[in-house]
Amino acid sequence: MSDLSEHLRFYQELGVTGVSRDARWRTRGSSQPPAPGSQPGGAAQRITIARSSADALAAIRADIGDCTRCKLHKQGRTQVVFGVGNPDADLMFVGEAPGGDEDIQGIPFVGRAGQLLTKIIEAIGLKRDDVYIANVIKCRPPGNRNPDPDEVETCEPFLFQQIDVIKPKVIVALGTFAAKTLLRTQDPISRLRGRVYDYRGAKLIPTFHPAFLLRSPERKRDVWEDMKKVRVLLQGDDD
Ligand code: URA
Repeated sequence: MSDLSEHLRFYQELGVTGVSRDARWRTRGSSQPPAPGSQPGGAAQRITIARSSADALAAIRADIGDCTRCKLHKQGRTQVVFGVGNPDADLMFVGEAPGGDEDIQGIPFVGRAGQLLTKIIEAIGLKRDDVYIANVIKCRPPGNRNPDPDEVETCEPFLFQQIDVIKPKVIVALGTFAAKTLLRTQDPISRLRGRVYDYRGAKLIPTFHPAFLLRSPERKRDVWEDMKKVRVLLQGDDD
C-alpha cells in the first residue's frame, strides 16, 4: 500500500472527518481549521467518515500497543497510561507523565496530585467523568525524572491525536512541562499562566501542576483564577 493511502486509512480509523490540502488545517498551534467548505488555494478535498470519538481513541490506543518506541519501556514502567474520561469532553487536562500510582493503576492522575486535580475539576461544577485527562508522556520515567527530549518527541504525537479526536473547547495544561510542550516555548509556567492561548482549535489555559500546589498551597488562588476563566470559556460557546 502506498504511504499516502496508508496515511489516509490511519486517519479514517481515527475518525478524522475532514482532510484538506490547506497546510493551515493541521498546523500545530493554529487557532482554527478552515471553515467547512472553504477551498483555500483550489479545491479542498474533504472526506466524511462517521466514527465515534470513543472508537477513534481506541484505535489510537491500539496503535500504541505495548509500546517499545522509546527507552522508557525498558526502564521499569509497568504499563502504558493512555488517558481517561469522556471522549467527547469539552474540557481536557494535560499533565506531564504518569507517576508511581498511575503506573500501577494504568490511569492518569490517581495519586495525591490526582486527588487534588479531582477537587479542582469539581470546584467548577464538573466531575472527572465529564472531562478527559491525559499526559504528554504515556509511560512513567524512572524515579519520576523529567522526560527526555527524545521521549517527548516519540510520545507527543499520540497526545496530539487524542486532542484532535476529542476536539475539546478548552485545554488546561498542567505545569511547566505540559505548557512548554504544547505551546512550543521555553517560558516557565509562571510566565505563561494568566493568559488564554489559541491551540489546535481550542482555548488553552496553562496553570500550575497539582503536584506543585501540594508543595506550594498558596498558589491555589492562582489556579482558582485560571479555573474561573475555564468555566467562562466553557459556558461562553454552546455550539
Ligand atoms: N503527574 C502528571 O503529570 N501526570 C499524572 O498522571 C500524575 C502525576
